[in-house]
Amino acid sequence: MDALLHAHSGLRYIVLLLLLIAIFQGFMGMSGKKVFTNGNRKIALFAMISCHIQLLLGLVLYFFGNVGLATITNPALDSVMGNPVARFWGVEHITGMILAIALITIGHSKSKKANEDKAKFKKIAIFFTLGLIIIFATIPWPFREAIARGWF
Ligand code: HEM
Repeated sequence: MDALLHAHSGLRYIVLLLLLIAIFQGFMGMSGKKVFTNGNRKIALFAMISCHIQLLLGLVLYFFGNVGLATITNPALDSVMGNPVARFWGVEHITGMILAIALITIGHSKSKKANEDKAKFKKIAIFFTLGLIIIFATIPWPFREAIARGWF
């Protein structure tokens, strides 16, 4: 379980990097007469896949680890929603991340279906940006009070 947690923790940087590159390419392409290349498609695809790997690792951590399901089903805890740490791990992290990953997956598929290159870029730019904002807000960064975790 420790190894999974480390993998999940480190993979965040790959997710963030790939999303940033895809978003940058999306906005650049949206504003010009750029051709949507195979390289653009690959970056967007890998960004989405990295999110899906996080989802799989996260689900295992949530259902078999110490702080996900174990927290919300803990009979010793009076109120999950009234406890910021329990609420974050039991509810907020999983809900926010699943929503973000859903947006990214929808954006990727809409981009594939779009006919014009400009529209392909635009779907990535908009959906991936929304996803990235939610992901950023739902990571237990070391500077977040109470729920802080390490950088790696
Ligand atoms: C892009 C998506 C995600 C990112 C960037 C992310 C990031 C993180 C980070 C940085 C940690 C702290 C790791 C540490 O303490 O070293 C963490 C913990 C955790 N994540 Fe995620 N996560 C994502 C998606 C998910 C999803 C979808 C789920 C659930 C389905 C999930 C469940 C968990 C759980 C349960 C923990 C705590 C594990 C424990 O301490 O036992 N994560 N996540």
